[in-house]
This record gives sequence, structure tokens and C-alpha cells, in this order.
Amino acid sequence: MKKILLVGNGAREHVIAEALKKSPQDVSLIAYGKAKNPGIAKLADRYEIGPLDEFSALKKLALEEKPDFAIVGPDDPIADGCVDALLEVEVRSMAPLATVARLESSKSFTRDLLEKYEIPGNPKFKVFTSNEGMAEFIEELGGEYVIKADGLMGGKGVKVSGEHIDNVEEGIEWAGKCIEKFGRVIFEEKFVGEEFSLMCFCDGKTIIPMPAIQDHKRAHNGDTGPNTGGMGTYSDANHLLPFIKPEDVAKAIEITQKTAKALFDETGCEFKGIMYGGFIATTKGLGLIEFNARFGDPEAMNVLPILKSDFVTLCEHVIDGTLHLYDARFEHKATVCKYVVPEGYPENPVKGEKIEVGEIPEGVKMYYASVDERDDGIYMSGSRALAFVGIADTISEAEKIAASALSSVSGQVFYRDDIGTDALIQKRIDHMKELRG
Ligand code: GLY
Repeated sequence: MKKILLVGNGAREHVIAEALKKSPQDVSLIAYGKAKNPGIAKLADRYEIGPLDEFSALKKLALEEKPDFAIVGPDDPIADGCVDALLEVEVRSMAPLATVARLESSKSFTRDLLEKYEIPGNPKFKVFTSNEGMAEFIEELGGEYVIKADGLMGGKGVKVSGEHIDNVEEGIEWAGKCIEKFGRVIFEEKFVGEEFSLMCFCDGKTIIPMPAIQDHKRAHNGDTGPNTGGMGTYSDANHLLPFIKPEDVAKAIEITQKTAKALFDETGCEFKGIMYGGFIATTKGLGLIEFNARFGDPEAMNVLPILKSDFVTLCEHVIDGTLHLYDARFEHKATVCKYVVPEGYPENPVKGEKIEVGEIPEGVKMYYASVDERDDGIYMSGSRALAFVGIADTISEAEKIAASALSSVSGQVFYRDDIGTDALIQKRIDHMKELRG
């Protein structure tokens, strides 16, 4: 019997719980989160609710339960030292220590690391601690730029000229606010191309890539509206994407591998967990948008349901630093994930509203996200609420499966119905063709 402590209560953690319980090993699941996720609650032997911005209650639970290992899902607790806190009570985690989780929590740390170790993928960039020189650098970049806060802001820390920023003054004003909050801000050259996510298991030395995925950050159909944590994702049966080349993924793997080594050389600490790169295929080659230090959400829902290898064994190899002795195999299936979110999300979401889910068509997987199960039903907490996943031989079929469940949800919600559709994918293919000539 393996006892595993799972930290976090979103859809990402729901699918992690499912993958753990699917193991041929006998798993006892201890769940800890800020609210009661009904999906995780069904799978867990014990479910404790507590804070995630300080770790005393979590440490107490770990001391009481003495799990074999922990998995920490969300970015904030990882950046704030949740893995370090668990290690103080002798629980090792499938997630990185804070010093190497800076890969996600400090964008300047990662840009400097890539530059120092001559790893490809960086755009032109400059870190500022005051407004001095910003206007000149914007000019040097030809007026097209990206501003990144040097800390976690729940998906709201990146602003792109022409998309979120109308003029230089507005950009510099926002950059000033980032400096007030984090002491630094980064200006970068704007990449033009098509994005994809590539997540890798990493034990500090060895990495094992998962299928490539496309995420959709904008809130509304046609990639319009404000940025969100991700409204939906898809992956293809060949583990590539229709608009990227095998060389793009090979380059992404090379960048991830070199970064894992550089992280160790720089900090003396091995990164154990998921290294998740946001990449972009451009005419100038492959660009690295950012690294995250955890499973993506929704991306975890594309890969874990088609993982054929034992997830528990994989986690153990990551933690023990013996990933070279194992392999991660995925089914050759396409997947589409669609999120249902509260009206007004992400800027002004309704909160505390009830949602009801009717009968789900056969073959659809459903994962609970930012909801709270109470005695009289399920209530939304203001962020993404429910996810539906379709799995099939083609993206087109998987899309139809996921979409067939959307109308079963009643409540004040909306969703994007274009994610994974043939029309949207064709747009990506045409865009890449046009760029590559
Ligand atoms: N899907 C974006 C993220 O997990 O950060």
C-alpha cells in the first residue's frame, strides 16, 4: 500500500488523483486543499481543508499521516516553499523546492539562466528596477514588446503591446506597478508564431517529454477577450500538433534538458517534478515564452488520462532521481479539454453561485475545478469550474465528444465552443504556413 498526499483542489489535482488511483499499486490518497473538490473527495481516503498560503496545518497532517510522498499541484504554494515545508517533516514531493521553482516564479531568473548557460530560446530582453531606459528599449524593440511581472500574478502578469497595452505611457505605467510589487520587471521582444505547451517529467538529470498540447488563454471564441488560466486545450494522436514540426518539439526537449542541467549547476539543487515549457514556433526558430514548475491546467487533463505507464512508479522515479530506469508511455489518442467557467470570468466572475450537472454523455470525462461541495450542492468559487475531456482517434472526434457534455451544465456559466474545432485548427495551420512561406 502506498500512501500519497495530494495538495491542491482544482481540476489539475482531480486528474492527478485519478491517475494515482488508476495505479496497479494499492493507493491510499490523503487530500489537502482550500475547498472540497467533489471529484477528489470521492477518490480520497481522507480530505482536509486548510490554507495554502502557510503550511503549518499541512505539516501537521503530513506528520500524522506519514505519506510515502506528496504531490503539490498549484504554482503559488510551490513558489512559497510548500515542498521545502514538507521536507522539514521528512516528506519528499513530486514537485520542486522553492529555489528551483524560481524557474516559474521569477521570469528574470529564467531569462538570465538561459543567457548565462547559452541555452537557445530567449528573446531580446532587459530587466528593469526603475523606469529609466524603458522608452529607449521599447524603441530598440521596434515598438513591439511584452512586459512581464517578475512574480506570480495568477495569469495576469504578462501584457503585450497592441493587445493589452495601447501606448508606451500605458506600458511604462504598468511596468512601474510591477516594480512596486516585485522590485523588478522584464521587457521582452514580442514573438510571432504559434504556441504550444511541452511538459516533461524531470528528476533533476533525466527528462521524459509528454505529448505537445495547445492551450487557449483568451476568454472568448476566436481568441478574443482577456487572458485566463486557460479555457481549453487539445493534443493530437501522434503527440505533435497539426501546425508544428517534429523539429520544433525536438528543440523544445533540448531546451528543457539543458535548462534542467543549468538549474542544477546554478543552484546545486535538482529540479524534481514537472518542467512545463510554453514554447512558440516562429520564423526565427523556437522561442521559449516561459517555464512553469508544475503540471499545466488544463494540460494535465490532456496527458494523464492517456498515460499508459504507472503514474505512481513514475513519481517515485522522479523523486528518487532514477527516471533513466523508467519510461512514460502515452496512448496514441487525440484529446480535447473544454472548461466551463462562471459568467464574468476572469475579470468579474460571479462567485458563490450554484451549478448543476445533468447526465454526462457516455465517453466524456468530467473534472471538477474551482468549486466547493456543500450539503445542498456544488457552488462556484469564481475561477474555472468544470472541465470536460473527449478522447478519440482524431482531434475532431475528441472535440465533438467534449462538446456533447457542455449543455448538461446549468448555472451562470459560459465556455468557448471553438476550442479543438476543425476551423480553429485550420486557422493555426494557415497562420504557420503563411509565416513559414
Ligand atoms: N494552462 C496554463 C497554465 O497552466 O499555466
